[in-house]
Amino acid sequence: MKKKVAVIGAGPSGLAQLRAFQSAKAKGEDIPEVVCFEKQSDWGGLWNYTWRTGLDEHGEPVHCSMYRYLWTNGPKEGLEFADYSFEEHFGKQIASYPPRAVMVDYIEGRVKKAGVRDWIRFCTTIRMVKYNEAKGNFTITAHDLKADRMYDEEFDNVIVASGHFSVPNVPEYPGFDKFNGRVLHAHDFRDAREFSGKDLLILGSSYSAEDIGSQCWKYGAKSITVAYRNAPMGFNWPDNWKEVPKLERVDEDTAYFSDGTSKKVHAIILCTGYKHHFPFLPDDLRLKTANRLATNDLYKGVVYVHNPKLFYLGMQDQWFTFNMFDAQAWWVRDAIMGKIKIPTDKAVLLKDVADRVHHEDEGKDAHDAIHYQGDYVKELIAETDYPSFDVDGACEAFFAWKDHKKDDIMAFRNNAYKSVITGTMAPVHHTPWKDALEDSMESYLKN
Ligand SMILES: Cc1cc2nc3c(=O)[nH]c(=O)nc-3n(C[C@H](O)[C@H](O)[C@H](O)COP(=O)(O)OP(=O)(O)OC[C@H]3O[C@@H](n4cnc5c(N)ncnc54)[C@H](O)[C@@H]3O)c2cc1C
Ligand SMILES: NC(=O)c1ccc[n+]([C@@H]2O[C@H](COP(=O)([O-])OP(=O)(O)OC[C@H]3O[C@@H](n4cnc5c(N)ncnc54)[C@H](OP(=O)(O)O)[C@@H]3O)[C@@H](O)[C@H]2O)c1
Repeated sequence: MKKKVAVIGAGPSGLAQLRAFQSAKAKGEDIPEVVCFEKQSDWGGLWNYTWRTGLDEHGEPVHCSMYRYLWTNGPKEGLEFADYSFEEHFGKQIASYPPRAVMVDYIEGRVKKAGVRDWIRFCTTIRMVKYNEAKGNFTITAHDLKADRMYDEEFDNVIVASGHFSVPNVPEYPGFDKFNGRVLHAHDFRDAREFSGKDLLILGSSYSAEDIGSQCWKYGAKSITVAYRNAPMGFNWPDNWKEVPKLERVDEDTAYFSDGTSKKVHAIILCTGYKHHFPFLPDDLRLKTANRLATNDLYKGVVYVHNPKLFYLGMQDQWFTFNMFDAQAWWVRDAIMGKIKIPTDKAVLLKDVADRVHHEDEGKDAHDAIHYQGDYVKELIAETDYPSFDVDGACEAFFAWKDHKKDDIMAFRNNAYKSVITGTMAPVHHTPWKDALEDSMESYLKN
């Protein structure tokens, strides 16, 4: 009997898993039967843009947290697939911070080439996963949304690749219920033009705050005020952008901050992060972790220590993304196919987790964190046949990126970096980011 493996989610992590199995098959290996369940009607995960917010056409929570005009916030040279370069996909080297549509095309290119689309059951939400102690396998309850039919199916292994930047963390501050303008979370932000001419308050001091604020600035917001909880982002912001300490309360039209200042604003955007949220997993299988590089309870960052037949992909906070998901997917494939042995002693699994947490905590700054995650990627790819690549070179791209942000936060995307896969330098984009209001794929590729 062939093993049966379920993959939950067809975003970049789930697709990496399909490509990993397909690449073994292409080498003549006998792979398990793989079924991928995806609740959206198409693949790409967060990169699959929709105008919808709230619930989708089937009444399911909308997964997408992306918005129009989004360009990658880190250089593409830090995430390039080692087995499918940007040059292979586009037939030429392209600039370093592609807009979302360009990224979707690239993500799709590899899996179209691999021919794995028919491994995926689209418009199918996983409602529950249960472990069958007696049989040593899992029963998955799936909901075919189009046919409105629920069914159970048994699998030997389950790989959770459902992402963790989709279910918003939504704090409440005094007065939100009286505020006259819009209060929305970044998850529901779609088009910066909605806020042109407006005074905006943003809460949070991480990537969403930086990028959504920058978008609104680019598309004509009158002013941006960012209230931080612990520390400001501290970039050299434009004149109409201010960072202020913690929000204390709002009234009908004014926000009041902990330093005694206040500001009249038209709308409030909560860039306050996301939750690891798995409503389809029972207590004994559900990962509970903060958004960090060394997650709780995952041996090698992927094996659930309380049930090593269950795997999680992409649950870490992310400097590295696509190439890290690949490293994880190739490793999980080999663990499932018995080429890598998972220790049977739970104490060994738990010690691995504790060591990773300790090692991350020893790091002092972002530089250490980038190295830490780069080393993790190296560790995994050394144990599989994933094409090895210059991970340190990718780290260098991240370090240069951080310096470029310090130099000019509204111009860092005008820089170009060298591919660690093909060794070629990216062209400088034809238009500075702040002036490139039209960001279709056709326009971006005109270099
Ligand atoms: C606004 C934003 C911008 C980002 N920009 C970048 C960037 O520029 N560069 C970068 O490298 N990374 C970026 N990221 C990080 C992003 O996490 C990764 O790029 C990537 O999308 C993660 O892939 P994933 O497959 O792990 O998760 P996701 O992309 O979230 O995909 C998970 C998939 O699982 C499906 N799913 C969830 N629950 C179920 C269920 N119960 N049943 C069936 N299917 C289910 C979802 O529909 C989805 O398709 C960004 C994230 C956000 C929020
Ligand atoms: N263009 C792009 O590519 C792009 C754009 C946006 C996001 N992203 C990606 O999306 C992912 C998520 O980023 P994110 O910024 O949404 O989440 P995040 O990195 O987890 O940051 C969450 C922020 O919310 C703040 N926060 C949490 N609770 C709060 C509260 N109660 N009150 C005030 N502030 C609170 C945190 O403050 P403290 O710092 O004080 O804890 C932190 O600054 C990242 O991987 C990022 O790279 C990419």
